[in-house]
Amino acid sequence: MASRFSSRLEWPSPPNALAREAAALRAASIPFINFVDSNPTRVGLGREGEGLLEDLAAPAGLSYSPEPRGIPLAREALSAFISRRGAVLPPENLFLCASTSEAYGWLFKLLCDPGDAVLVPKPGYPLFDFLAGLEGVEGRPYRLEYAHPHGWRLDLDSLEAGLARGGAKAIVLINPNNPTGSYIGGAERSAIVGLAVRYGAALIVDEVFFGFPLEAGSRSSFLGEGSCLTFVLDGLSKLLGLPQMKLGWIAASGPGLELAEAMARLEIVADTYLSAATPVMNALPAYLGKAEAFGARLSSRLARNLASLRDILEYTGSPHRVLRCEGGWTALLEAPRIASEEEICLGLLKEERLFLHPGYYFDMEREAYFAASLILEPGLLEEGARRYREYFEKLLK
Ligand SMILES: Cc1ncc(COP(=O)(O)O)c(C=O)c1O
Repeated sequence: MASRFSSRLEWPSPPNALAREAAALRAASIPFINFVDSNPTRVGLGREGEGLLEDLAAPAGLSYSPEPRGIPLAREALSAFISRRGAVLPPENLFLCASTSEAYGWLFKLLCDPGDAVLVPKPGYPLFDFLAGLEGVEGRPYRLEYAHPHGWRLDLDSLEAGLARGGAKAIVLINPNNPTGSYIGGAERSAIVGLAVRYGAALIVDEVFFGFPLEAGSRSSFLGEGSCLTFVLDGLSKLLGLPQMKLGWIAASGPGLELAEAMARLEIVADTYLSAATPVMNALPAYLGKAEAFGARLSSRLARNLASLRDILEYTGSPHRVLRCEGGWTALLEAPRIASEEEICLGLLKEERLFLHPGYYFDMEREAYFAASLILEPGLLEEGARRYREYFEKLLK
């Protein structure tokens, strides 16, 4: 009998052994270190005295004036903020929504019919498969490839093969990608834009981690890219570590006529939902004024944590490697494959009370890799890294 429910996703999927073990520890109130905690509100980044709640209290927040792209005052402040970062995006090219996750949904609706495809990076964050699936769209992977110590590069042949199969409406670029931390390099960028133009695909470029470079060589933003239809995504979630405020945005650019039509259509999608909340839109000018200080504070924590991982794990003769991390909030650790990633994660949780995500969550091509969050409070990250090292030392003895 046909299911009464949509088959857009394979849902609900039962929790795996690792999730069950973590749930059991939580239920028994047994503490463990969550080494993948990427929730900025849980890692003591400290918001006291920053006036974030006061900024939401402006009386204008009590009136509602439905504006599909978001209220002008907020878009003007965002346009000025973007221009200080070197790109020209007039307020009418900016669309405010609840989050970058929602922005993906809007753009897939704008560009795709059910059954169409968007090209997504692998390894990558599993969220994108859900976002595509929920729109009835195929997330078609293209490869990123790692060579130590140079880092990741985008496999342009696999990207082109994905486009050549037909039905692909957009290339999703995460700049820098999560969890690989890799930016799109200059040469890659021109090749990708060339492919987008040739195959008539739009670019959806997620730059939520763009302002957090670590071991980056060159990096270039796609904001204002004019050769093909381009939508750059960002939001308060990472820019200010405020995912709970629910404000993201799309910055649209591209060749004149095509862009005008795209924006007119996107406005209809936006008008259907009107999802950005008025108080947070009113607070955006003040929030953007705080972004630089937050970015500087978090960047120094990220750099310190990456250095600690290298100090603790890359000692002389170590079997471990911290992959080159150009930017973002995550580091990838490579370990000897003495067991499956799943078994190692379970062992770390049971014996060391350390919770990590295995590389297969992100479609790494081989084992054994683990993701670690670089936004953790530094003392906790160091403790976690020591437990990780000790676990392998015991097993390899
Ligand atoms: C690359 C990337 N983009 C977007 C998101 C989601 O951000 P938002 O809270 O704005 O939906 C995440 C979440 O971690 C992410 O890793």
